[in-house]
Amino acid sequence: MSEDYRWWQRGIVYQIYPRSFMDANGDGVGDLAGIVHKLEYLRWLGIDAVWLSPIYPSPMADFGYDVSDFEAVDPMFGTLEDFDALIAAAHARGLEVILDYIPNHSSHRHPWFEEARASRDNPRRDWYLWRDPAADGGPPTNWLSNFGGSAWTRDPATDQYYYHAYLAEQPDLNWRNPALQEAMLGVLRFWLDRGVDGFRIDALRQIVKDERWRDNPPNPDWRPAQGPYQALLPVYTTDRPEVMALIGRMRQLADAYHDRVLIGELYLPLQRLVAYYGSNGSGVHLPFNFHLILRAWNARGIAALVDEYEAALPTGAWPNWVLGNHDQHRLASRIGPAQARLAAMLLLSLRGTPTLYYGDELGMQDVPIPPERVQDPWEKNVPGLGLGRDPERTPMQWDDTPHAGFSSAQPWLPVAADHGTVNVARQRVDPRSMLNLYRRLIELRRRNPALAVGAYRAMPGAGELLSYSRVAPGQRIAVALNFGPESLLWKPPNGPGRILLSTHLDRVDEPVRDAVELRGDEGLIIELP
Ligand code: GLC
Repeated sequence: MSEDYRWWQRGIVYQIYPRSFMDANGDGVGDLAGIVHKLEYLRWLGIDAVWLSPIYPSPMADFGYDVSDFEAVDPMFGTLEDFDALIAAAHARGLEVILDYIPNHSSHRHPWFEEARASRDNPRRDWYLWRDPAADGGPPTNWLSNFGGSAWTRDPATDQYYYHAYLAEQPDLNWRNPALQEAMLGVLRFWLDRGVDGFRIDALRQIVKDERWRDNPPNPDWRPAQGPYQALLPVYTTDRPEVMALIGRMRQLADAYHDRVLIGELYLPLQRLVAYYGSNGSGVHLPFNFHLILRAWNARGIAALVDEYEAALPTGAWPNWVLGNHDQHRLASRIGPAQARLAAMLLLSLRGTPTLYYGDELGMQDVPIPPERVQDPWEKNVPGLGLGRDPERTPMQWDDTPHAGFSSAQPWLPVAADHGTVNVARQRVDPRSMLNLYRRLIELRRRNPALAVGAYRAMPGAGELLSYSRVAPGQRIAVALNFGPESLLWKPPNGPGRILLSTHLDRVDEPVRDAVELRGDEGLIIELP
């Protein structure tokens, strides 16, 4: 049955932040050769696809999300030949490779921008967004940068402002310009021809802005602790209607190749998120669903979320779930290590493609960053609110050696203090470790079509209990999750079952008759008759 589904439906995606995964050349920053060394580990873990955060040439103002050449590899990460070798090595192991695609902006050092800013009549001027100053000489609109301050920077050479949704070093591209569109679609073609299996599309909700340049309205619910960007509702700078036609072009291009996937980074409410599936396969295959990160962590809230999402999905749309990424505080820090095990079971037993963030399979936590080692420009621009993303981007913890087996040199971000115990080498041989929990969950999902691709059915729950079943022809599997620290009872709906896995990894094959006790923070996967 699973074979009737595409790899990106039945499979599991694993996000690698290349700067922090594995450093093969000893400069303290991860690289492509390092990733190749660790492909065997990823195969052992059981995932199906890796998504690499950006590897393109970049001044690294936003650590690779400021691209100065969309069709090359930054020397820090390796060469195009290294990339080809990575694709070949991954494919030889049955792993797919997904790249980050950054259509919203380039680096200010991209030759396109250097030409565009040279003069008002440069042919590339219109590849970016330029406006005259307002009457008072200030920015043309009230639009805010995600990283703090105005989203407009005045360029003295031509005395106009250019728009940047993020840093001034990341000018936004003008997707209304046909030549820019062609150039950026060409980027997709370049990598598809090289054998990549898909793209995670960065900042997709932002690629088109209001053509009338209207001011964004104030956000009535804004609290300063949310950061300055949240002070306005970004109605004229995000999620504009024209974006769907552009996505349609990307999709058409991807569909001309065999079995490729487009995944959109879209921080949007559920009803808007699902619009990005498009009609009749004209949207992205997977609009990233971040709501497990965004919602409060309790059984009733998460149960409601799953029901709302399942109900909102258009016909034929394939769901997906995410628990962490390079922009969000670590799962184990957000909800605690005990609940992080429960979250792993939830993620890997829900219906829809799961995406894992490197290190979450170990229970890696946010690493406190001393002020002198802060790297993230967001933290530098808007300090002290906990918005900085360095804590969740620290080196992968491979072993207990001084740099955690990540590098022979001092890494670009500090290694976690707990790497002596929280590391791959140690957890591989500990049968009850978080790592072995992930591996067992992945294995179970792979072996059981009900878990991989079966239907989702909510089951009654109350208090801290969340339970549901997954159903495929001839197979019914229940999942019961205890979101609280106290034990509780769960009753199988019809007849006895059998425990397949506990988050505590200490009960297997136990029969379940009238009721089963879930210990605090425990989750069970149960085969039903
Ligand atoms: C996305 C990326 C984030 C980056 C931003 C600008 O949100 O995930 O890391 O800073 O886009 O490219």
